[in-house]
Amino acid sequence: MKVELKSGIYWVGAIDWNIRNFHGYTTHKGTTYNAYLVIGEKIALVDTVKAPFFGEMLEGINHIIAPEEIDYLVVNHVEMDHSGSLPLIRETLPNVEIFCSPRAEGELKEHYGDEIPLKVVKTGDVLELGGRTLTFVEVPMVHWPDSMVTYVKEDKVLLPNDAFGQHIASSERFDDELGWETIYPELAKYYANIVMPYGAQVLKALEALKGLEIEVIGPSHGLIWRKYIPQLLATYERWAKGETEERALIVYDTMWGSTEKMARAIYRGLTEEGIPTKMYRLTGSDMSDIVKEVLETRGLLLGSPTLNNGVFPTVAEFSTYIKGLRPKGRIAAVFGSYGWGKGATKTLTADLQAAGMEVLEELQVNFVPSEEKLDRCEGLGRRVAQRIKAS
Ligand code: FEO
Repeated sequence: MKVELKSGIYWVGAIDWNIRNFHGYTTHKGTTYNAYLVIGEKIALVDTVKAPFFGEMLEGINHIIAPEEIDYLVVNHVEMDHSGSLPLIRETLPNVEIFCSPRAEGELKEHYGDEIPLKVVKTGDVLELGGRTLTFVEVPMVHWPDSMVTYVKEDKVLLPNDAFGQHIASSERFDDELGWETIYPELAKYYANIVMPYGAQVLKALEALKGLEIEVIGPSHGLIWRKYIPQLLATYERWAKGETEERALIVYDTMWGSTEKMARAIYRGLTEEGIPTKMYRLTGSDMSDIVKEVLETRGLLLGSPTLNNGVFPTVAEFSTYIKGLRPKGRIAAVFGSYGWGKGATKTLTADLQAAGMEVLEELQVNFVPSEEKLDRCEGLGRRVAQRIKAS
């Protein structure tokens, strides 16, 4: 089946129905690796697919043209879910000229060897296909330093690689076929787990794209956008600015139930102040789903018992992950119980501060919290709630 974005521009990607873990991020709905064929007098393939899906991509191309007719390959991004088929392309189509950003040049050589012939293009450079023009815009850190987008000006089609992607495997290819409500949670999860550290760079990229007329956006994962583009751009801008809602998230783990008692008392304080709150015990929860919640939530309360003078392992894993994702500007507090040695809350405070959060308080109890200490936990919840409302 041919999937046409505009007359002469085709999706030739692959659907990965069964991937459930994408470098540590759970992909309950699978994903797609999107590649696009742009046909002018010359023919360009924009991006490839993960290596095991090369055959599927080639089959898709074969429905449209003979693969030998491809003149150019544009590598928008080096990560191997998009460049992985490059060695197979070179083997199958040795005359294809390969274009990439300045930063991608070295990275591609590190991946596939120094002998790979590359043509470097910078922001504003164009590749004339004859009847169609590809314009390149570098968008560093969305998602790697090498990332760039390709724009087909005659058709107002933007091919931005990872930006605006979602990990969804589906037989539908376009946003209007699935609907905003279905796509939105996966768009948010993708942004939170992949793009969130680079809000400043996303804002720059959005600014760079503002001058372009865009009718179709073909990202490298998930659905192609043609109906919801205004909502999509507004949503990315909101996330990139770190805008959040008056809500809270309590994330914790517990050994003998004390930290959980604290969590429940904090929950009472927050909700009695009118703050919608969700609680997740990390054992049994999915970390990348929780991170999706962090994206739009203003308050984070993180709890851990002290184990061997440190943080409980599941909480340590979460706080390390959050530290890397840098959801700046959130209001935080940390809490936990300890036995004969403290340690967990101090480490958690440092991690959340390193993530760019304001940590209002640390609250610890020895062994099992008394009613009086649970009242203090409730008070902590109330104070965080007030601060959330005041922000
Ligand atoms: Fe879909 Fe950064 O790779």
